[in-house]
Amino acid sequence: MDELSRRKMLIAGGTLGALGALGAASPARALSNWTWAPSGSVAGSGAGADPRWVWDPEADPLVASLLDRGDVPKVNALLRTWTKNAQPLPDGLPADLRDFMERARRLPSWADRGKLATAVEFNEKRGLYLGVLYGLASGMMSTVIPKEARAVYYSKGGADMKDRISKTAKLGYDIGSRNAFEPDGEMIVTCLKTRLVHAAVRHLLPQSPYWSEAADEEIPISQRDMMVTWHSLPTTVMQKLAAWKVPIPAAESTAFLHSWQVGAHMLGIMDEYIPASWDEADAQAKQVLDPVLAPTPEGIKLADILLNLGSEVDGGLLSKPILGAFTRFMLGDRIAEWLKIREEPVWDSLLKVSWGPFVAVREGLLPFPLAPKAYWTFDEFLRRATLLFLSEARPISIEIPEANCPS
Ligand code: HEM
Repeated sequence: MDELSRRKMLIAGGTLGALGALGAASPARALSNWTWAPSGSVAGSGAGADPRWVWDPEADPLVASLLDRGDVPKVNALLRTWTKNAQPLPDGLPADLRDFMERARRLPSWADRGKLATAVEFNEKRGLYLGVLYGLASGMMSTVIPKEARAVYYSKGGADMKDRISKTAKLGYDIGSRNAFEPDGEMIVTCLKTRLVHAAVRHLLPQSPYWSEAADEEIPISQRDMMVTWHSLPTTVMQKLAAWKVPIPAAESTAFLHSWQVGAHMLGIMDEYIPASWDEADAQAKQVLDPVLAPTPEGIKLADILLNLGSEVDGGLLSKPILGAFTRFMLGDRIAEWLKIREEPVWDSLLKVSWGPFVAVREGLLPFPLAPKAYWTFDEFLRRATLLFLSEARPISIEIPEANCPS
C-alpha cells in the first residue's frame, strides 16, 4: 500500500478506533476479582494489587497541581510545538512538569527495536484490516465499556465527538506509522500527552454533576480501566484476525503485541499489568473486559453519534445502515441490540455469507474470484472507511482539558 493510502486507511481506522479509546462505565456490574498474576506481565513480577485501585501516582498529582495553579493554558500553548519523539521539550514549561516529561518520554528498557520494526511491516501488510477493526470492532466496543462511555460522555471531549475522534485516531495512526517510536516519529509524544490528558480527567471528572450525584462512581481511568480499553484494541483485533483465518507469521504477531506493550507503558500503564504474551492477554481480557461489557444510556448515544458521522462526512455513501451492519458483524447480535442498531437484512446476510471467502481470496487461500461482486463491495466499503474523516485531516493537537463537558 502506498504511503498516502496507508495514511488514509489508518486515519480512518484510528479514527473509528479512536472510538475504542473513547472512554465509558457501568456501575451496574460488579467487577470480577483480580486474580491475574504479575508473573504473566512484561515485568515478570509485581505486588499483584487490584489495578482498579491504582491510577497514575506520578502524573495525577502533577497535573492536578497544574490545573490548580492555572498553568494549563500556558502548558498547552507550549506543547503545541512539541510533536516529534526526539524533539527537545519547549522552553518555559514549569520545572516539575519538565522533569516528569523528561523521565516519562524514555522508552522502557525492555523495548526491542527489532520487534518494533517488524510491527511496522505487519501494520503495512495488514493496514486494510487493522483500519476497519480499530474502527468498527474496538471503536464501537468502547461504547459498551460502561466506564469508558461515561468518562467520554461527561468529559470535555464529549461535547464535540468529531474532534474527540480525530484526536484519538491520531494514536491509532501513530502506532502504525513507519517511524512510530523512532526519533522522527510521534507516538511517544502522543502517548505522553494522552497520559497528561488522562491525569487531568481523573482530577476534573469527579467534580462533574454526574459524578457527584452517582454514588458508585470511582476516580476514572484506573490502571484496570486502561487495560480494559487496551484489550478492546490489540487483543480484540488479534482475536478477530485469527477468527478470520488471516495468516500471520508468529514473529509479526509477537511484534504487533510488542508495539502495543510499549504503547501501554508510554501511556502510564504499569509494567506489572501489561501482558507478556497473547495467551496472557487473552486470559486477562477474559477477566477484565468480557464481564464489563454492557449498554448504558451514554454509550447508546455515543454509538449513535459515531454511526451517523460516516454519512455526515461523506454525504451518505458510508451510510449508517452499512456501518451498523459491519458493527453487528464484528461484535455480534447481542452488542448490536444493546446499541439499538437496526437489522439490515441485505447487508447482514451479505457479510455473513461473503466475508469469510472475501478474506480467503484476499489472502490467496481460495482461487479468485468466487463472488467478485460482493468482494468489490467490501473493498469499496473499506476504501470509503479509510476516507472517513480525511476531510478533517489537519494538524491535530492533543491538549489537557481544563473543564468537563458543559452540562
Ligand atoms: C483522552 C487514548 C484509556 C477516557 C484520550 C486521548 C487519547 C486516548 C489518544 C486524547 C484525545 C483527546 O484529547 O481527546 C486512550 C488509550 C487508552 C485509553 C489508547 C487505553 C489503552 C482510557 C480509559 C478511559 C479514557 C480507560 C476512561 C475510562 C478518556 C477521556 C479523555 C481521553 C475522558 C479526554 C476527553 C476530553 O475531555 O477531551 N484517550 N485512552 N481513556 N481518554 Fe483515553
